[in-house]
Amino acid sequence: MPEEEPASEETDDSTTRDALAARRGLDSPVYAPAEDSGLLAEAAVEHARGVTLEVGTGSGWVAEKVLRVSDATRVLGSDVNPHATRRARERGVEAVRADLLSPFREESLDTVLFNPPYLPTDPDNEWDDWQEAALSGGESGRESIEPFLDDLPRVLAPDGVALLLVSSLTGFADVVEYAVDAGFRAETVAEESFPFETLSILALRRRE
Ligand SMILES: C[S@@+](CC[C@H](N)C(=O)[O-])C[C@H]1O[C@@H](n2cnc3c(N)ncnc32)[C@H](O)[C@@H]1O
Repeated sequence: MPEEEPASEETDDSTTRDALAARRGLDSPVYAPAEDSGLLAEAAVEHARGVTLEVGTGSGWVAEKVLRVSDATRVLGSDVNPHATRRARERGVEAVRADLLSPFREESLDTVLFNPPYLPTDPDNEWDDWQEAALSGGESGRESIEPFLDDLPRVLAPDGVALLLVSSLTGFADVVEYAVDAGFRAETVAEESFPFETLSILALRRRE
């Protein structure tokens, strides 16, 4: 459960960020659902139950599907991007502005979903806008995934499950190794290949 109220919808620098997104030909500051969202949604509808959080909910498209179709009893969304939390709330998703899992309580989540920003990005080519925050996983591609995995053991219920989308561009084996070191067993529950990458959904559960 979130311990704090959502932050205000706008930030001082949002105008600049929106202008940068427009210059890149991207007319929305919120990630539009794509193949990765679809793969996560399919797996989530099958596996989600109890209190479910979608980290980095973006438009709330995945969370809304889970809310409508799965066995989840409550569906929350979180995102660093205030435009995203607003869009998700418009879809009926309870959304809070948050950095990864930080405001959520110990062992409070039965299911956690995350389609992270994962594209490996040269620091010299990083854009300072919300689309970059949705896409860039830093130099390794894992700069959001690793802190997420570091904090996951704290918030996940003892018999909970996390579904994490992993791209081959991000280094699938590196992510699995990091998850195992963080105390999880990892199982691939969905996979789809595209010309430039393979997307997998890892189900992470605590090791006995
Ligand atoms: C690839 S998009 C996925 C959006 C949506 N879940 C979907 O599948 O369509 C990644 C999302 O993570 C959000 N994000 C990036 N860093 C974050 C962080 N540290 N904490 C929470 N959300 C974050 C971005 O703003 C973006 O909405």
